[in-house]
Amino acid sequence: MKPPVLVTHPLLPEAAAVLDAAASVELATEAEILPKAVLIDKLRDKQGLLCLLVDEVDREVIDAAPRLRVIANCAVGVNNIDVVHARAKGIPVTNTPGVLTEATADLAWALVLAVARRIPEADRFTREGRFKGWTLGLFLGRDLAGRRLGIIGMGRIGRAVARRGRAFGMTVLYADPHPLAAEEEAALGASRLPLEELLAGADVVSIHCGLTPETRGLLSRERLALMKRDAILVNTARGPVVDETALAEALEEERLWGAGLDVYAEEPRVDGRLPRLPNVVLLPHIGSATERTRSAMAMAAVRNLIQGLRGERPDNLVEP
Ligand code: DGY
Repeated sequence: MKPPVLVTHPLLPEAAAVLDAAASVELATEAEILPKAVLIDKLRDKQGLLCLLVDEVDREVIDAAPRLRVIANCAVGVNNIDVVHARAKGIPVTNTPGVLTEATADLAWALVLAVARRIPEADRFTREGRFKGWTLGLFLGRDLAGRRLGIIGMGRIGRAVARRGRAFGMTVLYADPHPLAAEEEAALGASRLPLEELLAGADVVSIHCGLTPETRGLLSRERLALMKRDAILVNTARGPVVDETALAEALEEERLWGAGLDVYAEEPRVDGRLPRLPNVVLLPHIGSATERTRSAMAMAAVRNLIQGLRGERPDNLVEP
């Protein structure tokens, strides 16, 4: 008999087909985000869970699932899962690292360019028929070549963003508790700095750390105040890394040049002030949203789930 599993949101067809062959799948289709009570109810008899980053799999959910043998998150970030508690109960948790690195780095750069060159503003202006001819002062933006790119969190995605930064002629700074190997630093032309120094010196700051108790609120009001008035902040990691209220205030008061955000403190809610600000570019958490990448993520999550159900060590086991 196939093991019963819960999939909280529709998978892409190729991944669904592989999973259907190996497990008896219940697909939850009730809501964009399953209420906790529904998630708990559906998990009671399940041996596997394939979830998205919007599903809060906390201690209570895990404790209510006595037969659960594996939790496969279809995301690299696992801040939505109590990994420590799951592992303490012998339940492996998996994620989907690697496959989304380049797509996410591309999107971070799309935001850098969109903010620096005011692309959404200029696009609206043109669509509205307001372009009456070339002038010297029309939509002046920020140059990137010769400026400093500060990366917070120099994991896979941070390094991919750094490589792109080099290609744009930027000097790369990074802040991370773990220094890169000297050869890798040299290859990326990257210098490690304390976070405060990076914030004070960078022209573009891009966030690429995971959300953990240590990084929640990392870009606090005080730290945001260290940034240069003409700097750009980009966040494609997790919203709660930044004090969103303090960021909105800094942008409103023009203490920052602009911001590009793909993630928010309380998704899917977006702070009401942000959409009103001209030099803020807002996206709906689409860092990894390319056809190839999302397919690879879904396939990786399915593979991890099946491995866990078979009692094998999953390829992408998350260590607490
Ligand atoms: C992740 O994987 O954690 C991203 O936020 C979604 O691709």
